[in-house]
Amino acid sequence: MEFSELAKKRYSVRSYNGKKVEKEKLEKILEAAHVAPTAANLQPVRLLVIQQEEGLEKLSKAANIYHAPLAIVVCADHDKAWVRPFDKKQTCDIDASILTDHMMLQASELGLGSVWICYFKPDILREEFCIPKNLEPVNILAVGYSKETPQSPDRHEETRIAVKNLALFEHF
Ligand SMILES: Cc1cc2nc3c(=O)[nH]c(=O)nc-3n(C[C@H](O)[C@H](O)[C@H](O)COP(=O)(O)O)c2cc1C
Repeated sequence: MEFSELAKKRYSVRSYNGKKVEKEKLEKILEAAHVAPTAANLQPVRLLVIQQEEGLEKLSKAANIYHAPLAIVVCADHDKAWVRPFDKKQTCDIDASILTDHMMLQASELGLGSVWICYFKPDILREEFCIPKNLEPVNILAVGYSKETPQSPDRHEETRIAVKNLALFEHF
C-alpha cells in the first residue's frame, strides 16, 4: 500500500471487537517504534506494553481506552532527553510522539485499528504502574481490531483545513 493511501485510510477507532492482537503483529508495531528517529539519536522513550487483563483494568482507571485489547503507554525519559542549548527545550515529548505515530501507522498497515490518547490522568497512571519520576507518560496508543464501519479515506476534504491554509507560502 502506498504511504498516502495508508495515511488516508487510517482513522481513530473507538470500538474494538475484543480479538487479541497477535504476537507477530505486536512485534512489528514495536519494531516500527524501534526504527523511529529521535533527536540526536538519544532514544529517550520507553514503552509500557499492556495486554494482560489486570494491566488493562489498571490503565482504565487513568484513561478511556475503549476496551482495546492492547495499549502502549509512550513515556518520555527526561533524564535522557536532548536539550536545545538556546532555550533549554527538551524534545523528548516530540520523540515520544514520533514513535507513537510510527506505531499507529504500522498498526494500520497490519489491518489493526488504533486511537491515540492524551486524555488521561497522569498521576493515576504513575501510581498504578509505579512509573519513575524521570519518565513522563506522553501518549497512550490503544490498538485492536475495529468493530466500526471504516471511515472514508476521502473524508479529509471536510475534516481537515485546506492545504492552502496549512502550508503558508505567502510572505515567506
Ligand atoms: C495528540 C493527540 C491526542 C489525542 N487524544 C485523544 C484522546 O484522548 N481520546 C480520543 O478519543 N482521541 C484522541 N485523539 C484522536 C483525535 O481526536 C483524532 O486523531 C482526530 O479527531 C482526527 O480523527 P482521525 O484520527 O479519525 O483522523 C488524539 C489524537 C492526537 C494526535
